[in-house]
Amino acid sequence: MNTPEPAKNHTNTEEIIKKLPKLEQHIHIVGSTKPETLLGIIEDNGVEMPFKNLDDVKKFFQYGDFPHFLNVYSTVNDCITEPKYYERITYEMLESEAACNVKHVEAIFSANDHVRRGLDYDEMLDAINKGIRRAKRKWGITCTIRIDLVRNYGPEVAAKELGWIKKKGDNIVAVDLGGSENGFPPEPYEKVYKKASDLGLRLVAHAGEDAGPESIWGAIKTLNVERIGHGVTAIKDPTLLKEIKSRGITIEACPTSNLRIGAVKSMKEHPIRGFIKQGIRVSVNSDDPPMFNTDINNEYIQLHRELGFTVDELMGISLDSVETSFLPEKRKNELRETFLREHRELKRG
Ligand code: ADE
Ligand code: ZN
Repeated sequence: MNTPEPAKNHTNTEEIIKKLPKLEQHIHIVGSTKPETLLGIIEDNGVEMPFKNLDDVKKFFQYGDFPHFLNVYSTVNDCITEPKYYERITYEMLESEAACNVKHVEAIFSANDHVRRGLDYDEMLDAINKGIRRAKRKWGITCTIRIDLVRNYGPEVAAKELGWIKKKGDNIVAVDLGGSENGFPPEPYEKVYKKASDLGLRLVAHAGEDAGPESIWGAIKTLNVERIGHGVTAIKDPTLLKEIKSRGITIEACPTSNLRIGAVKSMKEHPIRGFIKQGIRVSVNSDDPPMFNTDINNEYIQLHRELGFTVDELMGISLDSVETSFLPEKRKNELRETFLREHRELKRG
C-alpha cells in the first residue's frame, strides 16, 4: 500500500490546503469519468458520440443551465454499455481522490440509469466494489456507496430499487434523490424513504440546487433526511436555516458545481459562509469533478481564494465531514486521529 508523501516544505497556503486530509461526501461515480477514459470507452464499445477528442469533450462539458447539465450527464450514461466500465471509473475516481489526500469517499451510484439501459444491477455493483477493493489495496482509501434513486423515475421505480438493495446491498450505506429537482418534488418519496430507513440505510437528498427552499423543506419534513446535497437556496429562508440547524442536518456543499450550472452567479456569492454562521455543519465536495473541471482540492482552494477561508477553518470543515459521515464509530475514531495528526504535521511545516 502506498502512503501519501509526508507534508513538508509547503511553499504557500494552497500547497497546505492540497495536503489537508479530506473526506468526500458527495461524488457521482459516472460523473467522475475522466474525459480520456470516456474516449477510451467509446472506442472500445463503438458507441457514436458527439465528441471525438479531448477538446470536443471539454466543450461538451459546458452548460447553459442545470437541465442542460443533466442532458449531458445522460449522454455520458449512454456510453456505459457494460458493467465492466464501472470497475475502471470507480478505481480511477478513487485514484484522483487519493491524490487529493482523501481518506474516505461516499460515492453515488444511480443504478436505474443503467438498468433501464439494459445493464445488470448485481454485475454493476460487483464491478464497483472490485474497483473499490483495488483502490484500497493500492492507496489505503476506503469507499462506501449510496444509491441515487433519481427522482425522474418516480417512487414505484425507487421502491423496486430498494428491493434490489435488500437482496444485494454490498457496501451500500445510504440512499439519495438526484435528477431534475424542478417538477419532481420530494414528497411522493415519503414511503420509500421510510422503508429505506427501516432497512438501515442513511438518508440524503439533493435539494435546493435547482429549486427553491420548498424543495429542501420537503426533503426535511417528509423524507427526514440527515444530509442535504447542495442546499444552496436554503439561504433565502431564515426559518429553514434554523430548522436545518436544530435538526443537526449537514449541507453537502459542492461550490464549483453550483457555479458551473448557474446556481450561484460567482463563487463569492456562494452561501456556504452563511450556513456556517447559522451553526449548520457543512462538508465540501466535488459532485461530478471532470464534468465541472474540478477536484476536491480545487473546492477547498476556491473557498480560501474567493471566500477567505483560512487553513484552520478548512481543517474544521474536513474534521466535520468525518463526524457527519456515515462511517461506523470505529473508523470515524481512526480517521479523526489521522486527520488531527496530519493537521499537526502540516502546522509544523
Ligand atoms: N446527477 C449527477 N449530478 C447531479 C447533480 N449535481 N444534481 C442532481 N443529479 C445529479
Ligand atoms: Zn450531486
